[in-house]
This record gives sequence, structure tokens and C-alpha cells, in this order.
Amino acid sequence: MPKTNEKKNPQQDPSVKQLIDALNEDLAREYQAIIAYTVYSSVISGAQWMNIAAELKKHAGEELQHALIIADQIDYLGGMPTATPKAVKLSDKPEEMIRFDLDNETETIKNYRQRVKQAEAIGHYALADQLRKIIAQEQEHQHDLATALGIEVPHVFSEGA
Ligand SMILES: [Fe+2]
Ligand SMILES: [Fe+2]
Repeated sequence: MPKTNEKKNPQQDPSVKQLIDALNEDLAREYQAIIAYTVYSSVISGAQWMNIAAELKKHAGEELQHALIIADQIDYLGGMPTATPKAVKLSDKPEEMIRFDLDNETETIKNYRQRVKQAEAIGHYALADQLRKIIAQEQEHQHDLATALGIEVPHVFSEGA
């Protein structure tokens, strides 16, 4: 728990604090995505993976935009944005790297859908709108990765948005 949270807002509403903590988990996942897409897009080789490697570079830039939005929102709510990413798995097999990305995107979408509900429950509608736009991009990422693997896009129906 960052000490600065307490300093900034000593009488923070518990539901706002919960939202800040959850957004910091989301931010840590965005950092993880930036790192994974940066590393994987550089090391993936083989003719059949060249298109997706170029896509991964675009994803890296989009994940950075998401991280900037989430960090600003955490600050706006009176929290301190985390500086620590979730761990990035490594592999020397292109297919495995793309699978890691796909699993992370699916996890990210589940979390953001939950976060939209959480934000709306306490009246943060503008934040919910920002999150919806991010979800739409994460779904595109998920689609690109599933297509590269030649599989169906995993469904995320557990948390409606
Ligand atoms: Fe993202
Ligand atoms: Fe993504």
C-alpha cells in the first residue's frame, strides 16, 4: 500500500479506495502488456509470424496510452499510481509468446468489465466511459492474437459491460 495514498487523502471513502487499489492492479497489467509486446515483437521470428510481430508493436503503443489514462485516473481519485508491472513470462517459442499475450488480454478484459461496474456504482461515469474505450481496444488485441494462433476468440461473458 503506497504511503502517499494516506497522505493525499486521509478520509478516503472505502469504495473509492477499493477502486484505486483495483485500478493499480489494472495499471500493473498495462505495464506488463507494454513490456511483453515490446520484447515479444522484437524477438519473434519466422515468416508465418511477421504480420503479428508488426501488430504487437502497435499493441505496445496502445497499452502505453492505456497506462497513461489509468495512471491519470488513479491520481484524480486521490491515489498514487503504482510503478511495478506484473511479471512477464518469457519463451523462445513464438506461439507460446502469443498465447501468453492472449491469456493476459482475456484477463485484462474481465478485470476492466468489473471495473466499469465498480466505477458506475459510485458515480464515476466518466471513468467508466474511459474504461469502455480501453475494453474495445483490448478486444481488438485479443482478436488479433487469436487470429494469429488460428483459434476462436475466447469469450468473456462473466462480466458484462
Ligand atoms: Fe491495455
Ligand atoms: Fe491489450
